[in-house]
Amino acid sequence: MQHEITAHDLTFVPFIDKEKIAARVAELGKQITKDYQGERPLIIGVLNGAFVFVSDLVRACEVECEVEFVRLKSYSGTSSTGEIRTIFGMNVPVEGRHVIVVEDIVDSGRTLDYFLKDVQAKNPASVRLASMLLKPEALKFPIKVDYLGFEVPNKFVVGYGLDYDGLCRNLPAIYQLKKE
Ligand code: IMP
Ligand code: MG
Repeated sequence: MQHEITAHDLTFVPFIDKEKIAARVAELGKQITKDYQGERPLIIGVLNGAFVFVSDLVRACEVECEVEFVRLKSYSGTSSTGEIRTIFGMNVPVEGRHVIVVEDIVDSGRTLDYFLKDVQAKNPASVRLASMLLKPEALKFPIKVDYLGFEVPNKFVVGYGLDYDGLCRNLPAIYQLKKE
């Protein structure tokens, strides 16, 4: 039984439990395994939020792969600042590689619009996107998620890698901001 949690000044209620997350990640892993037979995809996780999803997803993929991380930043508190910065980038060549970018959540899509263009410019063989969550109502950029965990309403969520000002990333389940 999960309970409400508080972080800083906000209260969050249970939203997606860890069993449901695990089942969905297993399905996505199977799909990626099937789609990349005989390839060696380059999996690029977007830090910090995607670190939990990447670690579960790559262990659900039975295909030879490489795993890298980049760090971008667009958020402060519970609203987007509208600015993306690359804090650190990729160390490996992307040219000719089958790339799978992995995110925790696609909100406005601004972060991925920026990053996917950056990846495309480096001439990969292909680029697909995996994201644990998508907020369709918040989407402002033409982002297509190839491997999606769950569509969620346009409300702030935490847990499973997602933070509220640095907290909650370690929660194994996903929680939603409580209506006051
Ligand atoms: P976008 O650029 O607006 O799509 O925002 C993407 C980034 O903002 C994600 O990678 C998250 O780090 C963060 N973000 C968006 N929505 C949430 C949320 O509900 N909770 C926590 N972080 C979020
Ligand atoms: Mg993120």
